This record gives sequence, C-alpha cells and structure tokens, in this order.
Amino acid sequence: MSDTVVCDVQNGICHLTLNRPAKKNAFSSEQWTAFTEALLAAQEDDNVRVVVMSGAGGNFSSGQDLSAFMDASDDQEHPFSRCARTVCHFDKPLLAAVNGIAVGGGATLAFHADLVYVGESLRMRLPFVSLGLVPEFASSYQLQAIIGSRRAAELFYTAEWIDADRAIETGIATAKCSDDSLLEMTLTKAGEIAQWPVNSLRETKRCLKQAHTAGLNAALELEDAAMMRQAGSAENIEAITAFMEKRKPKFS
Ligand code: COA
Repeated sequence: MSDTVVCDVQNGICHLTLNRPAKKNAFSSEQWTAFTEALLAAQEDDNVRVVVMSGAGGNFSSGQDLSAFMDASDDQEHPFSRCARTVCHFDKPLLAAVNGIAVGGGATLAFHADLVYVGESLRMRLPFVSLGLVPEFASSYQLQAIIGSRRAAELFYTAEWIDADRAIETGIATAKCSDDSLLEMTLTKAGEIAQWPVNSLRETKRCLKQAHTAGLNAALELEDAAMMRQAGSAENIEAITAFMEKRKPKFS
C-alpha cells in the first residue's frame, strides 16, 4: 500500500492514518485509492471489527488536493468517487479522531463515521461554494441527516469555520477532548466495540444504515452530476487559481 495511508491492525481494530502531513493530508488521487483499498480490505477481513481514521501531524485532512483537482480523465471514474461509494456502503463501525484542519473532503469523510471524536484544535469547513463547487461525498444528504436541514444549509452556504464547540453543539461530533488524548480516547472506544462479535456488529451497522441508503445513493448521483457542471467552470477556475496564487478569488 502507498505510504499516504498507514494501516495498523491490532486486537480487532484497523487504524488508518492519513499521511501527507506536509500538505495537511490533502488527498491526492493515489491517496484516495490507497484509502479505498484499505477500507475494502478491512471490510473483507473478519479479524477487523472496527475501523478508526485519523490524520498525521496534528491535522485530519484538508480534503481534495487542489493542485491535482483537474487531473481526472473524463472517461474514468475519479478515485474520489470510488472512495465516496465505498465509504457510504462500508458495513463495519467506523470511528474518526479529528483535530486541526478538517476541510472539504476532510470534513465530509468524517461525517460518515459512526462516532466522531474531535480535538480542541478542530478547524472544520465546507468550502465548496467558495471554490465554485458543490457538496460531495453524499454530504448534502449526510450532514442534514446528522444535524438537520437548517444547520446544514447555514454551514454549506456560508462556508464558515466550525470549531470543536460548534461541532459538539450541532451534533457533528460525539465528544471533544484535548488533542493529546484524542487518539487514545478514540482507540479506547474502538476497543470497547471490538470486544463484540464481528457479524453482530456488521448486521447492526447494516440495520442502522438502511434508513439512509436511498438518500445517500441519490445524493452521490446528484452531486456527481452537479460537480461535472461546476468543475472547470469559470468560477471554479478562478477559485483554484486564487488558491494556487495564494490570493483572494474575484467572482464577477
Ligand atoms: N490541496 C493542495 N495543497 C494543499 C491543500 C489542498 N487541499 N491544503 C493545504 N495544502 C498545502 C498548501 O498549499 C501548503 O503547501 P506549501 O507549503 O507547498 O505552500 C501546505 O499544504 C500547508 O498549507 P497552508 O495553506 O500553508 O496551511 P494553513 O494552516 O495556512 O491553511 C488550509 C490550511 C487547509 C486552511 C489551507 O491550506 C486551505 O484552505 N487549503 C485548501 C483546502 C480546501 O479548500 N480543500 C477542499 C478541496 S474540495
């Protein structure tokens, strides 16, 4: 496996660490693929009862690598889309330890965790409109399911920053702790889950997910179509160019 995702399986817990700290764990295509393969392997492996995601270097993830945003070819499914489908249909308990930056895909991936523990340094943001884009990772469905439509609309439309207290208050996060104890707390909770039999955990997750399957699938489809219209549009190109040039975008 690529070293952009570090996988460690112990005592029924598969711990996946996003590992591009110099880029705040921004997802390159290689990293989306590595993460997808790791999840599929965890799904198949009966020794894995629960999966924990975290980020290296004090940040969860800054989402899609914007310098590689235009790399995808038209005739192939983007590695991001395959990852989103895999995460949406993942059938074992999924926990996230989220601190520092959790932006774009770094936030919407975490929304699919069953339990989300946040460190006090959390800086979460849904920047899609500021990039001339639309929500992804079925987040247009998933976030509403978690926190309700009005709160979700506010966070999507304003692209404002969400700190750890707001993540707790909205219901995005399960619990907050210090950054130093975040991983230990998450792995301890994973250990509590991993004592139980794998098939019971899997069937329980399937029961919990069934109410959301149709909504998630519809969101994936709608978001993909909207993303195709927006990616490469004038407003999107201006936003990405501004990011690369480290300046504010000018939307006319
Ligand atoms: N894609 C590509 N590179 C990224 C990145 C991303 N999503 N996020 C961070 N980086 C890079 C920065 O360009 C910088 O690279 P450099 O050292 O070669 O200049 C490095 O990671 C460190 O990031 P920096 O911007 O210096 O850190 P910061 O703490 O000041 O800001 C962010 C962090 C996440 C707020 C800021 O980098 C950002 O807004 N990134 C874009 C996030 C985004 O919009 N993602 C969603 C895509 S859909």
